[in-house]
Amino acid sequence: RKWSPQQLVDAEQGTVSREVYVNQDIFQEELERIFSRAWLFVGHESMVPNPDDYFVSRMGNDSVILTRDRQGQLQVLLNSCLHRGMRLCRYDQGNNRTFTCPYHGWSYSTDGKLVERAGELVGVPGFKTHYYGELDKKNWGLKSVAKLVNYKGTIWATWDENAPSFEEYLGDMKLYLDFALDHRDGSPGGSEMIGGVQKWRIPCNWKTAAENFNADLYHDISHRSVDVVGIGPGGKGRRDPTPHRVSISFKDLGHGLVGRAPYYEENPYTPIFANYPEVEQYYRKVYEEREKNLAGTMRVLHSVGTIFPNMAVHGRQPRTIAVFHPVSATETEMWRIYLVDKDAPQEVKDAARAYYLRYSGPGGMTESDDMENWCYATESSTGTIARTLHYNYQMGIGHAKPVPGLRGAVTTGEFTEENNRNYYARWAQFMEGRSWDELMPTYDE
Ligand code: FES
Repeated sequence: RKWSPQQLVDAEQGTVSREVYVNQDIFQEELERIFSRAWLFVGHESMVPNPDDYFVSRMGNDSVILTRDRQGQLQVLLNSCLHRGMRLCRYDQGNNRTFTCPYHGWSYSTDGKLVERAGELVGVPGFKTHYYGELDKKNWGLKSVAKLVNYKGTIWATWDENAPSFEEYLGDMKLYLDFALDHRDGSPGGSEMIGGVQKWRIPCNWKTAAENFNADLYHDISHRSVDVVGIGPGGKGRRDPTPHRVSISFKDLGHGLVGRAPYYEENPYTPIFANYPEVEQYYRKVYEEREKNLAGTMRVLHSVGTIFPNMAVHGRQPRTIAVFHPVSATETEMWRIYLVDKDAPQEVKDAARAYYLRYSGPGGMTESDDMENWCYATESSTGTIARTLHYNYQMGIGHAKPVPGLRGAVTTGEFTEENNRNYYARWAQFMEGRSWDELMPTYDE
């Protein structure tokens, strides 16, 4: 190893080596030390509503199958045959009673009535004749994730059986994920995805995208043209305003966001979709219901933030999930998933879809601005001289203060690079190979 995480990331001084974004050896270690251990977003339950439905997702650079077995349980299995590694599911999604390999025909089942564990090998052509009945099928089932959780419809998994629970991993970032997922409190339907997953690849490092959602408000200048055009549902700017924005970093966990802090007493309703009266009325009603249901115990916490390592969530309109899948040091597969209240009127869903699409995704105006920055930044950091330099994350060093009511959280106000200093400090902790005991903080309750 020619480098150590401490040489690459100096969170106290606010510098990060450019090797972190362009070096393929470092990228390979990220896959082993971060993506094979951390809790990762895999999908949404609505991708697999029926028994035997499957959806092909990614965990790091591994292809995985999210499936619902015949007993209704969700499973996440490695999408690679145990015989010669063939990809079992070559389509993005579908419905399969068994997963049969197209190469030599081995088949695997998730039916709990037939097998003891999901992904067990049940069919081997020539089992009696070519293998003389001697292949130990129980030992050659598909690899399954070590832990899996359905968190309010979102599916998360880890390959590490020693990983803490997902809620521990999330810490108080949970409040903000909850807001995005429980947008309409008490809604019997919960949230649903609008359409499918938008997927596309861009030539940039995955962290460059992830850190942008970790409260990089400083890049507002990038979107000036979108603000001038005015694509927001209120007819101005690129979105309707979110008052009381602060950057909040969960220092020990690497998660961060920009949004409202729970300690603000005043929590005025700010109109969204003001140009669409029926839609505006719907959101106002949802807001009032939510305030009433929460009965002053919690504020409505609009936010956009990153959950370490590579998932971001928008809690307000547009309500989206973004995932930054690592492909190589300089290539990322981007995903966007759009959420809307399942029982919302159709006109609300239509207005949301139209706005989301012009806002983000591969053809969205703000994402296009961002991608241009990320791709040029990655490309210009691969130069022989350029890669010897460091990026500067020094904004607001020494000015962070604790956030009342959120464990381990700090804020420096609206504009800061505190969030990303802590994100990269977390990155370095994983890259050092620390144990979970060392990685997870303990707080006085
Ligand atoms: Fe799957 Fe041979 S690679 S059966």
